[in-house]
Amino acid sequence: MAQDRGQFSSRLGFILAAAGSAVGLGNLVAFPVMASKNGGAAFLVIYLFFVAFICYPVMIAEIAMGRRTTRNPVGAFSELSDGMMRWRLAGMLAILTPFMIAVFYTVITVWLVVYIKEILGGNLQYLSEATAFGEVVSRSSLFAYLVGLLGLIFFILLGGVKGGIERLARVLMPTLAVMLILLTLFVLTLDNASAGISYYLVPDFSKVNLSVVNGALSQAFFSLSLGMGILITYGSYFSRQDNIPQSTRMVAIADTSIAFFAGLLILPAIFAFDPNTNTDDLSTSSVGLIFSFLPQIFLSMQAAVGYGGASAVAVIFFTLVFFAALTSLVSIIEIPIACWIDELKVSRKKAVAMQAVLLALFAVPAIMSLGISDFFTTFTSYGGVSKSFFDVVSDVFYETILPFGGFTVCIFCAYRWKVSGLKAELVIGDDSYSGSLLEKYINFSLGTIIPVVLFVVFISTVSQIYF
Ligand code: PFF
Repeated sequence: MAQDRGQFSSRLGFILAAAGSAVGLGNLVAFPVMASKNGGAAFLVIYLFFVAFICYPVMIAEIAMGRRTTRNPVGAFSELSDGMMRWRLAGMLAILTPFMIAVFYTVITVWLVVYIKEILGGNLQYLSEATAFGEVVSRSSLFAYLVGLLGLIFFILLGGVKGGIERLARVLMPTLAVMLILLTLFVLTLDNASAGISYYLVPDFSKVNLSVVNGALSQAFFSLSLGMGILITYGSYFSRQDNIPQSTRMVAIADTSIAFFAGLLILPAIFAFDPNTNTDDLSTSSVGLIFSFLPQIFLSMQAAVGYGGASAVAVIFFTLVFFAALTSLVSIIEIPIACWIDELKVSRKKAVAMQAVLLALFAVPAIMSLGISDFFTTFTSYGGVSKSFFDVVSDVFYETILPFGGFTVCIFCAYRWKVSGLKAELVIGDDSYSGSLLEKYINFSLGTIIPVVLFVVFISTVSQIYF
């Protein structure tokens, strides 16, 4: 079955594909919202600290586990622990997490497609009305879009690592970067944009509290696609001649820069088009921001550029977000596919078909969670709030589990595989690793401060959301 696994064609191929996975809704929507409501540059500093000192070592460890074993997360944990059941379970969690993230991520991507279609049909005005989002997400026509989107994704995944995932990232990632930069430059030229820039970049440390710190770490994990097996899987397609720490650094920098630029686009846009913006409105969820708030912002541009111009900017923005979501979705869904190929010894074609059926089974209830079905809309309740099926999946697998996934990777690498095993992999392709400051930091922190921080964040998130 080895011929089914595939490999990235080059270091650049890996970096683009991993950045394609990392850059998604998390960067373009969640990051600007979190930064703006949690103290602007104060949040940014905490976020950067976590990326450099907590996430970067965990990313390196995940990629090294994948490359060492050339296996998916279940196979990697299992091989490096000589088949110990408890570590196989950690591997299974690293399959289940992306599987479930794909469920709510697919639903949001379907909404994006509907929004693009509506704007192209001249309906930006309609989308900016308060009731539009609720109406769009309860349409039964969403199923048709779901089928179309899943068809596209699974077609790409049939092409494999090089012909599917890497090829998509090579086209879409540069396109996305250019679109983002042009749109940002355009927004920055508008009157009042500077109010948004200062709102984004002037630090307000009074807003920082424990939940902001937790949020920054969870957001960094989600954004870097960490703690969920993706980098283990991508590491398994990474060439043995290449340098892991250096490539990882490029991915982290690309992901963080795009998040930063997205803030520089969205916040000034909000203030430029509506100088009286009530910043409390920004405290809504990221989904609320993108689907309810932004259409109003784009519509208010019509005074300056007419309805056609406003619609054009809105279409460019939503297409940008759609591209980012598509490259992320493809990578999330690759994780279970790699697992089926390696562990069940089936062909890529069969694995893709199995995964298509499994994902559809969960995506259908998730898409029915916002009004189509009462049962899934009021699925359960906890923490004193009624929750839909969509909310449950997002709370557990987006808000909560990632730091725990990172914690298992650290404990595994430090105490089971041992830092000597990790080092033996990292020196391949990187002559300077041995004796470097990075090695010393990883050797010291991977079994101590990093897992402690991750565990504390995990526990405090659980207590906040569920109790
Ligand atoms: N990193 C992506 C984002 O920021 O939106 C989300 C994501 C992609 C999560 C791929 C998980 C994954 F496997």
